Amino acid sequence: MNDETMFAAARDHLWMHFTRLSAYAKADVPVIVRGAGPHVYDAHGKRYLDGLSGLFVVQVGHGRTELAEAAAKQAAELAYFPLWSYAHPKAIELAHRLAHLAPGDLNRVFFTAGGSEAVESAWKLARSYFKHTGKPMKTKAISRYIAYHGTTMGALSITGLPVLKQDFEPLVPSTVRVPNTNFYRRPDQSMSLEEFGRWAADRIAEAIEFEGPDTVAAVFLEPVQNSGGCFPAPPGYFQRVREICDRYDVLLVSDEVICAFGRLGEYFGADRYGYQPDIITCAKGMTSGYVPLGAMIASERLAQPFLDGSSWFAHGITYGGHPVGAAVGLANLEIFEREDLNAHVRANTDLFRSYLERLCDLPIVGEVRGDGYFFGIELVKDKATRETFDDAESERLLRGFLSKALFDAGLYCRADDRGDPVIQLAPPLICEESHFAEMEQILRAVLTEAWKRI
Ligand SMILES: Cc1ncc(COP(=O)(O)O)c(C=O)c1O
Repeated sequence: MNDETMFAAARDHLWMHFTRLSAYAKADVPVIVRGAGPHVYDAHGKRYLDGLSGLFVVQVGHGRTELAEAAAKQAAELAYFPLWSYAHPKAIELAHRLAHLAPGDLNRVFFTAGGSEAVESAWKLARSYFKHTGKPMKTKAISRYIAYHGTTMGALSITGLPVLKQDFEPLVPSTVRVPNTNFYRRPDQSMSLEEFGRWAADRIAEAIEFEGPDTVAAVFLEPVQNSGGCFPAPPGYFQRVREICDRYDVLLVSDEVICAFGRLGEYFGADRYGYQPDIITCAKGMTSGYVPLGAMIASERLAQPFLDGSSWFAHGITYGGHPVGAAVGLANLEIFEREDLNAHVRANTDLFRSYLERLCDLPIVGEVRGDGYFFGIELVKDKATRETFDDAESERLLRGFLSKALFDAGLYCRADDRGDPVIQLAPPLICEESHFAEMEQILRAVLTEAWKRI
């Protein structure tokens, strides 16, 4: 296909996700053709720094031929077999590895093909578990404002972003929202970080009480909430949530679709903040995106009702734990170990943060926040009052200017206004100082220009 045919076919036949197709009625869709390390290249040969690891996915960087080779070898040996009452060696081995890496007694690995399916599976397991243990009314799911948990109907119902849900109502009933951990916009500015964390955690207890503890199955939380622009949890938050979950027999689901596999410098985000979930959902970085794979990792306690007699977890997905995905997942873990990527992230987090914090001298930068290789930059109209942009300004600024300007300047990242306007950065875990500096320089130039246009 020559370039001209390709751009026309992209416009006419490829339905891009979460995309205003009208934006490409007259302009060409950016087409990325290859990647190497932390960079990707478009169809014209132009190079970009991948500041978002694709979509929080490409942990080990692009162009790792050993992952491609692991995939090819597995496809040649056994391309496909289901995990429906059968198994294959790579899924067994990866489940074994993950069970040992996951915190505490999270021992049972239920593979999926992606993150939404992992979240869906976790909610179904929570419901099924309580049905099998004499608490059939425990069905509801609690999650946080603005949190993204996926797009399938169950996961979408748990998602806390009205703008993504309104076209699809009625959704699955029985979900409840509680405040997130946006300290920058805490309800009372006199609260300390710890006080705010306790306050936010206690809203979960309040929601459980309000709904009736007998009706609540699970609370879904990301270690660092992505949507809204990287909200780390205050110290003590997750410990308090754990106490609350234990008090009411509610399952704590750590949705680590973004935060697992080194994003926060640990295999699992729960370990970064020292809490014990009942279930971890993960995907993305598990294979560094070389092929799709996700998982729900559940505690031994949750597997118990399904270990005897005729009972079963009546749930499955054709491509869950695909042999090629499992083989690449194992090869990906080998790279993590060999290159000690988690330690690399831990050693460089403060340096990355310090480069981004230099941008705080710009009038448009309200706050830089995040952890690991996962940061958000909140943009404001007035630094002193923290006033944000209205919808029209946000539209002009983010869609009309920033996303494209950053890309044109050689930085692929995301300008997002699903909460307050933010720029999200989550580069491959192999990035080092030169990449942080490049990001800072490009952001500085583009944000300075953006301010002039407001
Ligand atoms: C926290 C979280 N949960 C679930 C999902 C859904 O994952 P997927 O897009 O693989 O279905 C995402 C995707 O970004 C996510 O960030």
